[in-house]
Amino acid sequence: MIKRWRFTLACAVLLGSCPALAQPLYKDPAQPVEKRVADLLARMTLEEKLGQMTQVAVSKLMSDGWGLGPLKGELLERYLVQRGIGSVLSGGGMGPVPNTPRAWAEMTNAIQRAAVEKGRLGIPLLYGVDAVHGHNNVVGATLYPHSLGLAATWNPALVEQVARRVGQELRATGTLWNFAPVADLGRDPRWGRFYETFGEDPLLAGSLVAATVRGLQAGRVAATLKHFTGYGQPLGGTDRSPAFLAPRTLQEVWLPPFRAGLEAGALTVMANSGSLNGVPVHASRYLLTDVLRGQMGFKGVVISDWNDIDKLVGDHKAAAGFADAVAMSINAGVDVYMVPMEVDRYLQTLKELVEAGRISRARVDEAAGRVLWLKFQLGLFERPYVEAAEAEKVVEAQRPLAKQAALESITLLENAAFTLPLTNVKTLLVTGPAATDKTMQMGGWSIDWQGKEGAKAPGATVLEGLQKGAPQGVKVAYADPKDARALAAAVRASDAVVVALGEKPYAENEGNNLTGELPAEQYKLLRDLKALGKPVVLVLLAGRPLAFPDDAWLVPKAILMAYLPGSEAGSALADVLFGRHNPSGRLPFTWPKLFGQVPFTYDRYPDIYPKAEPLYPFGYGLSYTDFTYRLQAARATANAVEVDVEVRNTGKRAGSDVVQLYTRFPPLGLLAPRERLVAFTKVNLEPGQTRTLKLTAPLDRFALVPGDVFSLELPRVLPGRYVLRVGEQTVGVEVR
Ligand code: GLC
Repeated sequence: MIKRWRFTLACAVLLGSCPALAQPLYKDPAQPVEKRVADLLARMTLEEKLGQMTQVAVSKLMSDGWGLGPLKGELLERYLVQRGIGSVLSGGGMGPVPNTPRAWAEMTNAIQRAAVEKGRLGIPLLYGVDAVHGHNNVVGATLYPHSLGLAATWNPALVEQVARRVGQELRATGTLWNFAPVADLGRDPRWGRFYETFGEDPLLAGSLVAATVRGLQAGRVAATLKHFTGYGQPLGGTDRSPAFLAPRTLQEVWLPPFRAGLEAGALTVMANSGSLNGVPVHASRYLLTDVLRGQMGFKGVVISDWNDIDKLVGDHKAAAGFADAVAMSINAGVDVYMVPMEVDRYLQTLKELVEAGRISRARVDEAAGRVLWLKFQLGLFERPYVEAAEAEKVVEAQRPLAKQAALESITLLENAAFTLPLTNVKTLLVTGPAATDKTMQMGGWSIDWQGKEGAKAPGATVLEGLQKGAPQGVKVAYADPKDARALAAAVRASDAVVVALGEKPYAENEGNNLTGELPAEQYKLLRDLKALGKPVVLVLLAGRPLAFPDDAWLVPKAILMAYLPGSEAGSALADVLFGRHNPSGRLPFTWPKLFGQVPFTYDRYPDIYPKAEPLYPFGYGLSYTDFTYRLQAARATANAVEVDVEVRNTGKRAGSDVVQLYTRFPPLGLLAPRERLVAFTKVNLEPGQTRTLKLTAPLDRFALVPGDVFSLELPRVLPGRYVLRVGEQTVGVEVR
């Protein structure tokens, strides 16, 4: 034993005294990350640095194309060892075959082993996915409500809890880069990505973006704020159409959710595939460097969106050739190119541009250095692998949390004659396409990109949930909406009808809907049900507000908006319909009466001529109980406005309410939003209970951009007498 000790000591002394034999500084976790990055960069060749600036799809390592299957050794060797590609992603639906949590962990471990054990410097690889409502590429992972539904909870703590849970699942499968949250706003419901947003309001969305970043990164998974910026307002509402925003709108509306995400510590940002004011964002140095880094202080990695440097040539027709596109984009501020159309051409072009001086070596060091910094931050150099055996357990169905999120999202829009909760029903008939089609409750980005395989995710259908959740003595029957005769007979034999309507799943451009309408047969079903004379409850599973002809909309006595609730749709709806849960969801968007008016948000500038009032306003939602407010006092402090509000539950049931504080602006020499949300909080009250709440609105929420038409000034608070509103009550406050 003594001999071994002496030998070990001798080796340590020898190694310590001989730098060439000691471990390189970048491998020493005791060293500051900045030093480790500098040391590693100094050891890297130009080619190796360019490899860190490149991300390929995992299918490249399976088929060198788009086919899925086992990883191929020669492809791992070619891309990860010879070309030193720094990160790999799964586009929607790209995963191992078979698709199980364990297979995901084994896949990322195998890819990682090639990079770490065969790469010259052993730089670990970073694996990215779009886990936008759970670890949604993985069969077996619980699917949570999509962001639009999470926004309807108005509950940042819950959203953070969901993100924390998803982060644990991502970590367990070795996928440490999540291309989420979407920090774009949902201000045009025609847009195919409306449901991926946290709604139309900068404060609500920003609060939930920040909560998601905190939750994900608590598990040492990198969050990605996407898609920077102005992506959610495409002209005409169709995905990736050009967007035009006044500088003041950019500053007052579109940047705040990104700013909130950066303040929460987001490690990465993804550029918007579209264009803003005539410039493709992937070529905009103003946005990707001057604003994002200079004004907002971002220091992390900017990744492109899919193929988007190539698209500067083909789609935007802004670059004469690929080399120009690469130079434009990298010099604008893109650090990592997600999925070049041709990897070798990209790497070769990058190298030639550096050698020709069109991209500086300093810029390469900056971009590659940010990627290395990210990998050190995530602990990848110390723990590059995951325990594959653990993955199944960690990715087990997390039903309670998913159910809580679905419950708190469900929004009660109508409840004539207190149809709900269903307490006097002995036979309930369920019908409608969304009652049995699980893909409709999951939405896009569910197992595959367009959500067509969403039924593989765990969870019951709406019908199964209602059958399982029915109280003792209540029979829940089903009738196929396509069989008019059987449906009529079943309705006659029932006391009430629940009809579940909604949208088939979609993602991105495939999801544009210029009219907000559902397929005609769904409206016909409502009319047919009206003719049968039983109380109808309409449940909507959709990723946007929808347009209904009056004669269809007026059929149901009660209407619930369930958004895209995920695995626990059925059990959550059962609790709401049968009264075990009092709905507390509040709309995170304006529900237009006329789709021809969109974009039509609550914080629009004053209407010169009256416009059709929305069907339901932003922040709207009914309850099985009632709440009253008494606005007590408002005071401006040095950096906030504080308001005391007494909230009372005047009904017979416990319930949650979302208390929302809005401001109206004084005349300031320029237009101001009709109103702006400046604070909100959620409160649970027993029947008859009263609570006085203090709402605090930091002054920056009152800020506007001063100056004339194209002012580039930053927002600031313009002094004056502001009018604050909670419910129907208002109070004035002087803001300096
Ligand atoms: C898509 C989306 C983006 C996603 C990326 C990777 O084009 O625009 O949100 O993160 O590709 O799947």
